[in-house]
Amino acid sequence: MKVVGFNQTGSVSNIEVLESPAPGKLKEGEVRLKFLSGSLNHLDLWVIKGLPHIKYQFPHIAGSDFCGKVVESRSEKFKIGDRVLVYPGGSSGTDAREYLPENLRDDFLIRGENSPGVLREELVEPEKYLTKAPEHLTDERAGAIPLAFLTAWQMVVEKGFSQPNYDLSGRGLINQTPTGGLKTSATILERIEPVLVHAAVSGVSQAILELLLSFGFKKIAATSRSEEKLEIWKKRGVQGFISGPNLETELKTWAGKTRFGLIFDHVGEVYFEMNIRLLRKGGKFITCGSTSGFKAALDLRHVFFRQLQLLGSTMGSVQQFKTMVNWVAERKIVPLVSHTFPFDNPKPAYELMEAGRQNGKIVLTA
Ligand SMILES: NC(=O)c1ccc[n+]([C@@H]2O[C@H](COP(=O)([O-])OP(=O)(O)OC[C@H]3O[C@@H](n4cnc5c(N)ncnc54)[C@H](OP(=O)(O)O)[C@@H]3O)[C@@H](O)[C@H]2O)c1
Repeated sequence: MKVVGFNQTGSVSNIEVLESPAPGKLKEGEVRLKFLSGSLNHLDLWVIKGLPHIKYQFPHIAGSDFCGKVVESRSEKFKIGDRVLVYPGGSSGTDAREYLPENLRDDFLIRGENSPGVLREELVEPEKYLTKAPEHLTDERAGAIPLAFLTAWQMVVEKGFSQPNYDLSGRGLINQTPTGGLKTSATILERIEPVLVHAAVSGVSQAILELLLSFGFKKIAATSRSEEKLEIWKKRGVQGFISGPNLETELKTWAGKTRFGLIFDHVGEVYFEMNIRLLRKGGKFITCGSTSGFKAALDLRHVFFRQLQLLGSTMGSVQQFKTMVNWVAERKIVPLVSHTFPFDNPKPAYELMEAGRQNGKIVLTA
């Protein structure tokens, strides 16, 4: 079978289509999936360029996102023809602390990073990592969901909303309804607003913005280095701000005296000190990355005097993955897809992501 991968790190030009043995017979509870689509994530760039903590085994199969069709099943839950999404993480089974979510265990695996990726024609998976793809999405859009929306879900719902600061009843921002759905309180959302999201159409940020809008946030600001990228969100009521020397002043003026209650970021170094200054008392900064650099100078007085909360976030658990996909299906959320390339031609997809010219996700399709 064909896979997308590479035999050496160093440059995106090493990405190619390779031959690899097809997976063997199914065990009880497993399904065989045929590739329909999968998107790239910035992680794929870090991995192909070379990450010091990874023990590469070449050929390294790339990719974290997989949408596929069940072609053989030994599962009670999934039948032939079902279209499913695969959890982009996993665990090697060496950390016995099952009470922890997968992404907090020491044996957490990220597909395409410290474990083999999913950009392959065929994949055999245990049912525990699968969930049905939302019906309202085309194959290409469904393949854009897994890693970006999972990361955004944990940042927005688990980290952003779990704040006794804002809900004196102590119940948190999001409550389970009797029917198992989720509901937010408009009053509480208003207490958190305004909210700031950097790099408006990056894979993670477009997912964060979709989720914020779906939960009813109204006063949202987004930044980008590109006016064109901001246009997409301005049409949806999000206030756009171009990165540059006046960014901090413009954001402060717009946010007003209360400043920002929540800031979501993965750009890192270039925005960090500004982000700290832009938070209000008790405000929350949630980061999942540091694309521009990882050194951050922090004046601790800001943290304790203004009682700031600085939170790190990486992907999410299997349970969060399934809850997130249900929410996407229920709210008919549609991820932004910028470009689609055939599975057989991954190089231009990698080059486009490296150039950063995409407006949303870059997807490979069968
Ligand atoms: N911890 C986790 O679980 C997790 C999960 C997903 C992603 N991440 C990390 O989050 C980051 C984004 O991932 P992604 O897949 O969403 O990336 P992406 O789609 O490639 O988007 C990256 C965006 O970051 C902005 N950017 C890059 N360099 C910048 C700079 N020097 N100054 C200002 N803006 C800059 C650009 O936005 P504009 O062009 O609009 O300015 C760019 O489009 C990556 O570092 C990734 O590794 C972490």
